[in-house]
Amino acid sequence: MAQLVYSETEIMSDHDYARSHEAMGHHLHGGFDAEGNYISPRTLVRNPAVEAWTEALRERGGDILHVDPELMEPAERYPTEPQMKLLLQEGVDQVFWNSLTTTGLLEARGRFIVDREFPDLQKIIVEDISELAIGHLSKGMLNAHGLDEGGEPEKGIGAHDVMWFVVRDLAFDVRDYPIPQLPEFLGRPDARQQLAPEIPPACEQMILFMMNLLLIEYGAESLFSFDQRLLLDADLFKDRRDQANEAAEMVERIRQDEVVHVTSLRVDLGELRAVTFKTVDGGTVPGAEIIDRLWASIVHFVRVESPKQQREQQTRTIERTILEHPKGGESVLARFRALEV
Ligand SMILES: [Fe+2]
Ligand SMILES: [Fe+2]
Repeated sequence: MAQLVYSETEIMSDHDYARSHEAMGHHLHGGFDAEGNYISPRTLVRNPAVEAWTEALRERGGDILHVDPELMEPAERYPTEPQMKLLLQEGVDQVFWNSLTTTGLLEARGRFIVDREFPDLQKIIVEDISELAIGHLSKGMLNAHGLDEGGEPEKGIGAHDVMWFVVRDLAFDVRDYPIPQLPEFLGRPDARQQLAPEIPPACEQMILFMMNLLLIEYGAESLFSFDQRLLLDADLFKDRRDQANEAAEMVERIRQDEVVHVTSLRVDLGELRAVTFKTVDGGTVPGAEIIDRLWASIVHFVRVESPKQQREQQTRTIERTILEHPKGGESVLARFRALEV
């Protein structure tokens, strides 16, 4: 029988690295084994634990949350790959520079997972959850996730935030472009209306938060491979080919770190589908009923509503950047627009 209960210390534990992870003068999380393979931080126990919980869930007849493969790619990406390539070839590199900077700043925000207080899900679940992944959310699983994104600045260890700034500076060298403004946080317009009034609002919020996080992880995966393709494109970064290759390798390490975020959230949500919730009026309701309802609603928001709002914001900012850039202007903007599908 595989181990199913872990202490927070176990969940947070690192491998014994043969070499630490350093780049451009930064000490970064994770490390390397003796063969030079990158090892993600805090995965010594976390990875086998997620596997063991997944296995146990399947033995009970459940499964990890099914995610429609369509959700893994955005309906449309803006700028598109040919558009971004045009800008880089024209020297209007600020748009890609901004995009990499923004990714780093958003990763840093992930640190708030560590500081946030989450309700105890056991209070609303009939079954004992101590042997489940969801019984470990506040026993290291969410903390580990938050530290992977935002790092431990007080210990001088950089995580995804710093890793993205390294990616950017490897590709472009140090630039004096102003730090872009982060996109506004676009919440659900009817966020105050409860979607699952059967359970306490704080628990609904926590489940929606986990679902949102999972969709963000999928969106990130697709954006990160987009960035990687541009960094590896032989027509681009010709003067900095070695550094651009190194930057793409750094992105690969980030992608490797993100894997456990997706697998753990999917097993969490799969477990929540398989348990029974206690309702606020003293009854019970199958977890699947609540989870499927919340998932449908959040998928609609993230896939349909949010992209519409974001696209308007982005078009304004990006077109202004192209017009104002010393190498940009009307004619580059016209060619950029012509590439739109
Ligand atoms: Fe990340
Ligand atoms: Fe992540």
